[in-house]
Amino acid sequence: MVNYKEEIAKVLAAQIPDMDAAEIQEMVEIPQDASMGDYAFPCFRLAKVMRKAPPLIAKSIVEGITGDPLFEKVEQVNAYVNMFLSKEEYSRGVLAEAVEAESFGKTDIGKGRTVIVEYSSPNIAKPFHIGHIRSTVIGNSIYKIYDALGFKVERLNHLGDYGTQFGKMICAYRHWGNEEDVKREPIVTLLGYYTKFHVEVETHPELDDEAREAFAKLEQGEEEEVRLWKWFRDESLKEFMRVYDMLDIQFDDFDGESFYSDKMQRFIDELNDKGLLLESEGAHIVDLSQFDLPPALITKSDGSTLYCTRDIATAVYRKEHYDFYKNIYVVASQQNLYFQQWMKVVKLLGYDWVKDCVHVPFGLVSLEEGTMSTRHGRVVFLEDVLNKAVDKTKEIIKEKNPEADDELIDQVAREVGIGAVIFQELSNNKIKDYVFKWDKVLNFDGETGPYVQYTHARCASVLRKAGAEVVAKAQKLDIDYKYIESDSAFELIKLLHALPAVVVEAGEKYEPSIITRHVIDIAQAYNRFYHDEHILTDNEEEKTAKVALTIAAKNGIKNGLALLGIKSPDRM
Ligand code: ARG
Repeated sequence: MVNYKEEIAKVLAAQIPDMDAAEIQEMVEIPQDASMGDYAFPCFRLAKVMRKAPPLIAKSIVEGITGDPLFEKVEQVNAYVNMFLSKEEYSRGVLAEAVEAESFGKTDIGKGRTVIVEYSSPNIAKPFHIGHIRSTVIGNSIYKIYDALGFKVERLNHLGDYGTQFGKMICAYRHWGNEEDVKREPIVTLLGYYTKFHVEVETHPELDDEAREAFAKLEQGEEEEVRLWKWFRDESLKEFMRVYDMLDIQFDDFDGESFYSDKMQRFIDELNDKGLLLESEGAHIVDLSQFDLPPALITKSDGSTLYCTRDIATAVYRKEHYDFYKNIYVVASQQNLYFQQWMKVVKLLGYDWVKDCVHVPFGLVSLEEGTMSTRHGRVVFLEDVLNKAVDKTKEIIKEKNPEADDELIDQVAREVGIGAVIFQELSNNKIKDYVFKWDKVLNFDGETGPYVQYTHARCASVLRKAGAEVVAKAQKLDIDYKYIESDSAFELIKLLHALPAVVVEAGEKYEPSIITRHVIDIAQAYNRFYHDEHILTDNEEEKTAKVALTIAAKNGIKNGLALLGIKSPDRM
């Protein structure tokens, strides 16, 4: 996409000898109100160097750049130079990119570099609950964004498949477990055992010792403990896969904590050699007080390792294995302090690349009545949420299109219902906490996924009605741009122009909601255009130009939604 701020800066630079183009580019603004120009340049800062009143400077700049082919019109308003782009030139450039369904919105700035995105990472033998959806959906979108920026992306699911909780699970299973129940309904059953363990241990503290011993045996590779653990893992993974399939989310790798359990000794020795490992009541820690952080616990007094130990090993392994440009962790903000701690330990080991490990935190999800907690068994299962969203959507679609066939309704209800949950998830700035409310997730009005998807289906319908011949001509941009110069058309074109830059920004900030916002803007702009103007007019030339803009809008919405992990049905 042409970078207009850059082009404008070049033109302005010829008029402002005391400033270079880069500096000028920084100062070019996009006015809120389009009647003040597509771009504006404030002259306040020039007063000092040019020793003239800002309005006079603006006036002389306007005189200097009037007639430049970049602009249709240039005006001085007070201290501002207001610039109106030559619409035809601008639209030609934007549409040339936007009518290309495959490539629109993509760039190759990441070429030749590898980025790791670690996301979802649920804990084995515990439900995949609504709290996990955030990491799953935000991470998937960050993967799609980096992929669109041309990076090679490794999608890693760092399963929580190791640790002392498996000692508890094994212990609970031995006391109260039943194979048939586990097979029939693995996660609910295992969760029941885990919950029971926490109740029973209150009055039978010896259970804790038993659990510790079971975990120690697991670490030593005792056959029976390993068999149970593996079984819990396999059953859990089956259940997680069902949810990933519903969301159409994939991973390149499911190597979780257990994978790293034999890769820790190396750096524990290294820490020791460097004199960083301190003994404290039998446990081993790294003191981080000089950084104002609590100590990092590396091994417990019984010699067992921890979550932290495994994360350090993981980061080192990833660097050696993938030589990443960025190693991104999409993990709840509750773990902020924890991430600072283990990253500091990696830094103390002398690995400066730890600066490329990025913790992307997000806020908590809570139920209306309070926070959810696995330990007490009060959870909303993500699978139920998705199923309910699909069912509700089905009802709505059936109501709207009583004669549509069932297969189509099923397909569309899946894409729209699940899309609605994802869209709502990615609508807010990710760091904010939010309360999960059914009404809000399934609200199909306003700035929601279904609204945006509906706009896409509307574009598709316009193209169907226009017919193949007109669409083919429009696709080749064999059009007269004067038919798409109205305010509503041009607003839409400007938003399409911004899409590639929006993708870059969302990637830099690890913030998919920037894209969510932008696709809403595009959808609203298209709907204004659709209502203000007659698209399928009898004037063939006019129709073809407007159809070309419809193709571009459709691509913008579809590719934008795809970056969020949301489908765009052609009919709704
Ligand atoms: N399994 C963890 C949890 O559910 C998340 C893992 C985060 N990733 C990591 N490398 N520590 O809380």
